[in-house]
Amino acid sequence: MGVTHLFSGITRRFRQEKRRDGLGVWRDVKVVGEGEVVLVDEKPISEYYIGKVKVTVYPTMYVAREPHLSQRQKEVIARLMSHIYYSVEPEHVLNAEEPPTTYLEKLLWKSAAKLGLQSVIADFFDSALYYIKRDIIGYGPIDVLLRDPEVEEVSFIGYSQPVFVIHRRALSHSRWLPTNIVLDEDDARGIIQKMAQRGRSHVSAAFPISDLLLPEGHRAAVSYGREVTPTGFTFTIRKFPQKPLTIIDLLRNHTLTPLIASYLWTILRARGFIIIIGATASGKTTLLNALAQLIPMDWKIVTVEDTPEIRIGHPQWDRLVSRKTLTIEGTAPEIDLFELTKFAWRRRPDFLIVGEVRGREVRALVHAVASGHGGMTTFHASSARSAMLRLMSPPLSVEKAFLMLISCFVTMREIRSGVRVLYRVEELDEELNPTTVYKYGEPVDPALLVRRSRVLKEVGRVWGLDEDGIRRLIEEQKSLLERAVEMGSLKALIEEAAKLEVIRAF
Ligand SMILES: Nc1ncnc2c1ncn2[C@@H]1O[C@H](COP(=O)(O)OP(=O)(O)OP(=O)(O)O)[C@@H](O)[C@H]1O
Ligand SMILES: [Mg+2]
Repeated sequence: MGVTHLFSGITRRFRQEKRRDGLGVWRDVKVVGEGEVVLVDEKPISEYYIGKVKVTVYPTMYVAREPHLSQRQKEVIARLMSHIYYSVEPEHVLNAEEPPTTYLEKLLWKSAAKLGLQSVIADFFDSALYYIKRDIIGYGPIDVLLRDPEVEEVSFIGYSQPVFVIHRRALSHSRWLPTNIVLDEDDARGIIQKMAQRGRSHVSAAFPISDLLLPEGHRAAVSYGREVTPTGFTFTIRKFPQKPLTIIDLLRNHTLTPLIASYLWTILRARGFIIIIGATASGKTTLLNALAQLIPMDWKIVTVEDTPEIRIGHPQWDRLVSRKTLTIEGTAPEIDLFELTKFAWRRRPDFLIVGEVRGREVRALVHAVASGHGGMTTFHASSARSAMLRLMSPPLSVEKAFLMLISCFVTMREIRSGVRVLYRVEELDEELNPTTVYKYGEPVDPALLVRRSRVLKEVGRVWGLDEDGIRRLIEEQKSLLERAVEMGSLKALIEEAAKLEVIRAF
């Protein structure tokens, strides 16, 4: 990363005065003074601070106001920044024994002393420290977006456009919200190189795309130069939620009903096989994570992932993450999901979770389920029918006999901007046709669910329960879940569940 751009993102603000763009989203934006963007006609949706940055969210724009600096102060910071930049590696700051902020603070004073700027810097030390932190240990101008927990996704697709975000509180107004942050080529290159370095990945003209994982847990899909993206350097960041949504959260925000949660819980306990499907960002991984919390605590769970998104609290959680070939020379062989999944079932899991299946790893997972382990995964498909078609045809080619092992397909859907629900549950009949046992919005009770569900009746048979018995179990679990929602405690739920006679037996 060159020094020249280290400081550049500060004042290059998105300027627009009643101008219209093809999208028409910025028409009410006006620039008042340096770095001060004011929306003329819009009331803010919310306003808060992320550290020293004041964030104002308008229905059509996200505005981050960083500490204001005079021209002279900017020059001072630029000098200090290059001094610090040449005297310390960012990685060194991050790995120092002291907290990075303390370390940088000392460094800033030291550099100021060396350059004879102590008295000058004393006037605006906090602001100076903010910018130095932002650019040395943070991600430069977009740092605030990565630290703002309300921002779900960050997208940058070209120099002439602002950085866009998906913001939780603005979703009922705008899906992608332009921010007042605009990057030039140097900014974008610097950010992407930083992400590649921290994500232990590599991007260059020879390897122009990369899907990488930042140390903060965010997933970034980046492109280098104009190799595959004619607009130049681009990136899209899926933020890792600070607190993953629990099953209690999902019940509270009506993503799913306690009855359906009880149904899925039963399948998990019976070591069934759940495939969660849906479009991109429909909430598949979130549901997978939440459901995993319902797997009995004393089971051994092996998870297999490309990007580590699963977080569960089981003491016997055995986590496997694939390894990509990182070096240009490719000296270290890749270890992919297929190999890891095969490896996983030699590790005696009670339950095997593959974060997302796309290729032949699905066969390894199905085989694991066939040998008596429970299984759960996500798959990118719009319906159970299309998922089945793809599972049956090359290159996946799962044999029909194995497809019978799928307990159910769960479809996630974003029904309105930002509102994700468990939309449908389908099981397979004898001819492998998907049949709906539950659809969002249609009334269903435990008795009807048991009547419709081939899988529940099968579980009942194995557990020695008749139709009435399995219905009672479903009801009992449902009220446990409802009580847990009232109490807001997953722990209480797990403790209560352990007391349920019928469950204890299996
Ligand atoms: N039920 C939910 N309630 C509220 N927010 C949700 C819910 N499910 C997902 N989200 C949010 O939506 C975003 C996308 O979720 P998630 O990663 O689970 O989707 P996905 O379907 O797995 O996406 P992909 O296809 O990219 O793997 C995340 O920011 C997540 O926090
Ligand atoms: Mg996912």
